[in-house]
Amino acid sequence: MAIQRVGVIGAGTMGNGIAHVFACSGYGVVLCEVYQRFLDRGLETITKNLDREVAKNKITIADKTAALARIKPVIDRQKLSDCDLVVEAATEKFEIKAELFRDLDRLLQPGVVLASNTSSISITKLAALTKRPDKVIGMHFFNPVPMMKLVEVIRGLATSQETFDTVRELAIKLDKTPVEVNDAPGFVSNRVLMPLLNEAMYAVMEGVATPQAVDEVFKLGMAHPMGPLTLADFIGLDVCLDIMRVMQEGLGDPKYRPCPLLVKMVDAGWLGRKSGRGFYTYP
Ligand SMILES: NC(=O)c1ccc[n+]([C@@H]2O[C@H](COP(=O)([O-])OP(=O)(O)OC[C@H]3O[C@@H](n4cnc5c(N)ncnc54)[C@H](O)[C@@H]3O)[C@@H](O)[C@H]2O)c1
Repeated sequence: MAIQRVGVIGAGTMGNGIAHVFACSGYGVVLCEVYQRFLDRGLETITKNLDREVAKNKITIADKTAALARIKPVIDRQKLSDCDLVVEAATEKFEIKAELFRDLDRLLQPGVVLASNTSSISITKLAALTKRPDKVIGMHFFNPVPMMKLVEVIRGLATSQETFDTVRELAIKLDKTPVEVNDAPGFVSNRVLMPLLNEAMYAVMEGVATPQAVDEVFKLGMAHPMGPLTLADFIGLDVCLDIMRVMQEGLGDPKYRPCPLLVKMVDAGWLGRKSGRGFYTYP
């Protein structure tokens, strides 16, 4: 099936970036949220990011206008029914995604691929909730989506070769680089990255060093473009905690225990950049 119209669920950090790249690559996008204010915020971010691309001469004003015109914001999920593929980028909670996958399976044409941008939840488990497990796949973009080249393409146990090829080709059309990964908690990216971020948090909690000092060590000593605590703030501390918990439960190894400081900060509503406070404060 030729893909022309793509549904994106969630207009948060990742959903607005995913809508942005599909729209810039010429796809019609139906962007679905739970509340109008989240849609407005998502579209505001997309507009701001497109403006930045215009200022850098990466795109023209006409490209920006055309991209925005391709995005149809909706609250009513029913309006996704004519999409050729859907990428789910809703909150990283199994119950939220489970409800969505069951309902989207009912709503969408039988041949439509259902992709999840989940960072850690089992694609196989989400697929098993639908009547189209062969059409369910992970399409894991990275933040900020318009800039990051990687898409981890995750095969669930039942994902068909046809579905895998469709999503791989789609990633290439978005000017991304797909990398094939099998389904396991945290896949490759977060399986390796999150324990690093979590350990950096332990170092701060135990008074080994300040967040600034930990970040300097990684920037100057390991040539990381940003330190682990800046990165954790950028990803969202709630997202980091959810991923650690999925890996702790799914892999059953105590080494994935979330740092108590992370738990405490999330309890306090200190979610990083998006809430204005995390390991650093943001205006
Ligand atoms: N933040 C990152 O760096 C990052 C990177 C890669 C993947 N991810 C994954 O992407 C997904 C989204 O993460 P995020 O950081 O964008 O989270 P976010 O909290 O910024 O945004 C999630 C959005 O989903 C919306 N939502 C929740 N339930 C919904 C529903 N039923 N229908 C429509 N919208 C709904 C929320 O209103 C919210 O705006 C998660 O699965 C996360 O693990 C995040």
